Amino acid sequence: MASVVIVGTQWGDEGKGKIVDLLTAQADVIVRFQGGNNAGHTIVFDGKKFILHLIPSGIFHQEKKCLIGNGVVIDPAVLLGEIENLEREGIPVPPGHLNISERAHLIMPYHKAIDHGREAKKGKTKIGTTGRGIGPCYEDKIARRGIKVGDLLDEELFRAKLSEILEEKNFYIEKYLGGEPLSFQEIFDSYRQMGERLAPYVTNVSVELEKARQQGAKILFEGAQGTQLDIDHGTYPFVTSSNTVAGGACHGAGVGPTTIDFVLGICKAYTTRVGGGPFPTELFDETGEYMRERGGEYGSTTGRPRRCGWLDGVVLKEAVRLNGLSALAITKLDVLTGLDPLKVCVAYELDGKQIENLPGSIRAVERLKPIYEELPGWQEDISKVEHFEDLPDNCRRYIRYIEEFAGIPIQIISVGPARNQTIILKNPF
Ligand code: IMP
Repeated sequence: MASVVIVGTQWGDEGKGKIVDLLTAQADVIVRFQGGNNAGHTIVFDGKKFILHLIPSGIFHQEKKCLIGNGVVIDPAVLLGEIENLEREGIPVPPGHLNISERAHLIMPYHKAIDHGREAKKGKTKIGTTGRGIGPCYEDKIARRGIKVGDLLDEELFRAKLSEILEEKNFYIEKYLGGEPLSFQEIFDSYRQMGERLAPYVTNVSVELEKARQQGAKILFEGAQGTQLDIDHGTYPFVTSSNTVAGGACHGAGVGPTTIDFVLGICKAYTTRVGGGPFPTELFDETGEYMRERGGEYGSTTGRPRRCGWLDGVVLKEAVRLNGLSALAITKLDVLTGLDPLKVCVAYELDGKQIENLPGSIRAVERLKPIYEELPGWQEDISKVEHFEDLPDNCRRYIRYIEEFAGIPIQIISVGPARNQTIILKNPF
């Protein structure tokens, strides 16, 4: 397959980073298309640990092209920090190896101030954002007052846009949020300096992708967050501010839907969520604690402990439909070892009625009670298993059950954090 999109099927943190990293070996071009540095994954390369929030992990392979599309919101300080850190560790990041879209919007200091200020003001009802300014940046994009990467390279345009918008932002920060106003000159000077350093990386990502396609390149579109965090289809308002579903790859990178050949959904063998919002299968007992500790379920961007619960089959079926998934990769299956029985949510009860889809109203989602199917667990250590047939019977039964319930094949099974702890039944490329 030439163009593969990878998306999370739950609330993010499904282990996309590992699968992306694995498939990067076959890809020629790796593209981010939405989100920003609210995402993050840890990559171990040459025995050293790297945490990347914006740059695709293809950066460790010099012959590959890494692109950041127009749908991503870029904090230039974070991007430059990642470039510097990689180069300091002997990994060159020249333009051409990494390119960023001239159309991507910039996260500005006032976006971060507003993200923090609003969450503090909301108190108990807060979204639990990552505090990176993601939402306020996308708001400005849609309100047609955002500043794009390309604008930063034009001194006069940048000056005019910043001075117009900062007046409004400072009014809001001071008078509504009770914060400190931000200095025009400080932002202007630091952003212009960063703009100069980023200029050689700026390109038209859509054109680059078209060229790559014509040359027969294999393209991997790397989704961030997960389907239930999608601004349109997720558990709104407890969502992120971008379209995390596979369709986002088209508008977020500048390619048409007919150019996508395959969509791989990443599904953790149980469910986690960070931040606020409804989570029907959440566990508040020792089983949830077991998943958190065995699975190392602490946020890679914010370090927050993740909420844990059973696999939600309804959420998975939603992901199959909303993304048009071709196949699944199941991750962290080893974390379930030792739990017996296992439960999978197959439907919900809402006010005494059984329902099979997530309702659109957040109040209704909050009232959902999961209806579970129980499956026998397994006790054997599966972390060294290399072939599907060598997995314990009950483990294979669990996999087959998910496959049948979702109605699509499982092609990749991850049984541990390392690259070689992966059973690849079929490679999407
Ligand atoms: P924001 O994207 O920082 O605005 O946060 C909105 C919601 O999305 C919060 O619940 C975050 O915890 C969640 N979120 C954002 N990025 C990620 C991620 O990469 N993994 C999991 N949750 C995320």
